[in-house]
Amino acid sequence: MADRILVAYATRYGSTAEVAEAIGDELRKAGETVDVRPITGVTDLSPYRAAIIGSPIYMGKWLPEPQVFIERHQQHLQSIPVAYFTVGLTVKEGTPEFLRKAEASMDQVRLLVNPVEVGVFPGRLDTGRLSIADRAIVKLIRAKTGDFRDLGAVRTWARAVREKIALA
Ligand SMILES: Cc1cc2nc3c(=O)[nH]c(=O)nc-3n(C[C@H](O)[C@H](O)[C@H](O)COP(=O)(O)O)c2cc1C
Repeated sequence: MADRILVAYATRYGSTAEVAEAIGDELRKAGETVDVRPITGVTDLSPYRAAIIGSPIYMGKWLPEPQVFIERHQQHLQSIPVAYFTVGLTVKEGTPEFLRKAEASMDQVRLLVNPVEVGVFPGRLDTGRLSIADRAIVKLIRAKTGDFRDLGAVRTWARAVREKIALA
């Protein structure tokens, strides 16, 4: 029976995984049965009555794995409530322009499956963890480093998503 909620994520350095865990934890507190999974580990959607899918932004875009997943499971995902969340550093600036850019990273997946809700959250950039290539890019664009995540805001969003799922 499809009675579980899936929270599936992509991540390169773990910060989006922790955002996904906070979403899952909040839903469980509200009484839901939830699986929080790396998106590459999800093959069967039949146990789920809703899906929350998230990715960090790299160079303005979602990572490829969730996009491929949504393409592959488009038909099934169109039949259940779906929400998307995005984790990115520019989100912390909070200006309409930066928020618009962060939201634009979801344009492709929104065309594939129309979500009941979307969320954009500030992420974490820790140069000590980065690959050589990513470190070079970060140096080039002079990105600010630090952990800007607000898990309280993430949890508030998770509660709002639960309500939207119930109404869908
Ligand atoms: C090479 C590189 C490119 C990035 N590009 C963007 C970007 O275009 N927009 C943005 O908001 N954040 C960008 N970020 C920040 C990441 O989205 C942020 O660090 C996020 O929390 C990483 O998630 P992860 O730890 O789950 O991989 C970039 C980070 C790196 C290292």
